[in-house]
Amino acid sequence: MTIIVLNFKTYRESTGLEALRLAEICEDVSKEYSVQIWVAPQVADIYAISHAVKIPVFAQHVDGVGYGGYTGHITAASLKAAGASGTLINHSERRLKLADIDASIAAARLAGLKTIVCTNNVATTRGAAALEPDYVAVEPPELIGSGIPVSKANPDVIRGSVAAVKDIAPAVGVLCGAGITHGEDLRSALELGSAGVLLASGIIKAKDPRAALVDLVAGAKK
Ligand code: G3P
Repeated sequence: MTIIVLNFKTYRESTGLEALRLAEICEDVSKEYSVQIWVAPQVADIYAISHAVKIPVFAQHVDGVGYGGYTGHITAASLKAAGASGTLINHSERRLKLADIDASIAAARLAGLKTIVCTNNVATTRGAAALEPDYVAVEPPELIGSGIPVSKANPDVIRGSVAAVKDIAPAVGVLCGAGITHGEDLRSALELGSAGVLLASGIIKAKDPRAALVDLVAGAKK
């Protein structure tokens, strides 16, 4: 089943109470159109959202540290306790070193959280796949927030990532993102072999996020 991950980032329209409203919209659309929609709000919003909706709630980042004397970190155990189902790791706007990605995956796995490791090209997809997260999500940074869909502007990065993952760790799912907004963007991403998309501004900054989401999910249906 197609996976749609909506990254709430730190947009005003998806912070606090607005985040909760947006998650409720995602849940409605997910039920109505029988598609998987996973939401990734800011950490402080996870508890409220995960207790208000049944769709999976992801964190935007997790640190590879456990219990103990760490300050200002996000632990996998605290995310799990707050009701998260998984976490993004190494998003383009929250880059990590390779060893940190490995530690974050291990911490998440230990806590029972699903992992989506973001990458920026085929080479980093290869590296991320070798660490065997649940998913990799390839997002060329220059297209993020541009409204120009990766599936149109750079189909080769999706094709190449799908092929690389098949070669290295076939159990790892491949998502893609950057500039994805409309149903046709999603449809071409699926045709290129992606299991779904990771997106943000096309929905969150839309005048009517519900209508934008409905337009998007239509692409999974055709
Ligand atoms: O995490 C999703 C993201 O980086 C893509 O952003 O605004 O291009 O959909 P956007």
